[in-house]
Amino acid sequence: MSSIEHPRIAGPPTPAFVIDESALNILVNRFRDALAEHWPNSVMSYSVKTNSLPWLLSYMKRQGVWAEVVSDSEYKLACAVGYTPEQIVYNGPVKSRAVLRSALRNGSLTNLDSKREVRWAAELAAEDPSLNVRVGLRVNWDLDALCPGQSTVVGDMSRFGFDYVNGEFEAAIVQLTDAGASVAGLHMHRNSRSNSPQVYQAAAGVAREIISTFDLELDWIDIGGGFFGSLDDTALFDDYISCIRAELEGAVDLSRTRLVIEPGGSVIAAPVEFHAQVLDTKDIGQRRFVITNVSRTDIDPLFRKQAPYYIVTEAAADTDHPEQVIAGFTCMEDDRLMVLKDSPKLIEGDRIVFRRVGAYTMSYGSSFIEFPPAVYVLHENHLTLVRRAGDVEDYLQGNIWTGGQLQPTGAQPE
Ligand SMILES: Cc1ncc(COP(=O)(O)O)c(C=O)c1O
Repeated sequence: MSSIEHPRIAGPPTPAFVIDESALNILVNRFRDALAEHWPNSVMSYSVKTNSLPWLLSYMKRQGVWAEVVSDSEYKLACAVGYTPEQIVYNGPVKSRAVLRSALRNGSLTNLDSKREVRWAAELAAEDPSLNVRVGLRVNWDLDALCPGQSTVVGDMSRFGFDYVNGEFEAAIVQLTDAGASVAGLHMHRNSRSNSPQVYQAAAGVAREIISTFDLELDWIDIGGGFFGSLDDTALFDDYISCIRAELEGAVDLSRTRLVIEPGGSVIAAPVEFHAQVLDTKDIGQRRFVITNVSRTDIDPLFRKQAPYYIVTEAAADTDHPEQVIAGFTCMEDDRLMVLKDSPKLIEGDRIVFRRVGAYTMSYGSSFIEFPPAVYVLHENHLTLVRRAGDVEDYLQGNIWTGGQLQPTGAQPE
């Protein structure tokens, strides 16, 4: 979990995220190879919400990876960085009528998740039969019944998709086909608690059952994201895709029906580090506090996890301290990143580097007390700034306020 290290590169100015491009290449290629091996007629689409950094989106685009978006804003963002509608998978429970219509007209692979979306798609199909509207439906299925203990919604139902047991899924099919649209895809996404390929086998099994019950001819089966990924486990992505194929190859024609995957955390968590610096230390009673220039909101916005880390310190080796509370810069008492046990007493200027923090961190982009930190990309031992640190000018953009006028940054008080 932790170590004292001499890193390969001189660290960037802190605070800063660093994306290791070679690690990202490894993970993206590993998924691509698994798809090429087991389901060549497939689409890898990157889950934009996981980390929507523009550099990353354009990296994915260059790799031939599509964008999977779950809101109108993400749809527009994907277009703004250069994705064409045909390279976008449009998901999410709350689409607008206007963007949905535009996505269907322009060939985005679209999975519906609400009754109003079904109504709007049916409306468009009836209005313009020449469009040949083809949509996917998100399926609500009981993960816990098939894989006990795997659901992340403990003791409750998932709220996403249409229930294929109580008639709501069938009603959506009827409404769409009556209007001249076709149900051409299934969207099976579920998050799970472990990295077990059985979760994907279960999702594929439910898709197989639905295909046969409702006699569907599908253009795509979108198995979703939620995969686990680590640089050390070289077989996991292959295991995921091979078990999906094993479950579905008798049910669909693999050369006609595309497999869609939507990886997020499995490709972007591991390649990202976050560099923090010690600003001050203080002893209060028996407690030693180490104050840093980062916040827990930067790397754990939901206050749930503890990232692995390493420390680069100038402290003498014989200064071990049993417990040091690593605290953030904010004024929240619970902005504490971790308790460092039996480590050298950190001193001002030391660096703490949190690892595997690329997923669901930057995209929460907090402007609480400080603006979002800079982001660098590490490429062949060289760091390139791909996002400067946020500042007051960014924050004021788009705002109207009375009595104020935007000053050039140089004129701001220190
Ligand atoms: C529909 C959908 N696709 C893809 C993802 C990406 O999941 P992950 O980052 O776990 O791969 C999510 C995340 O919850 C999701 O809701």
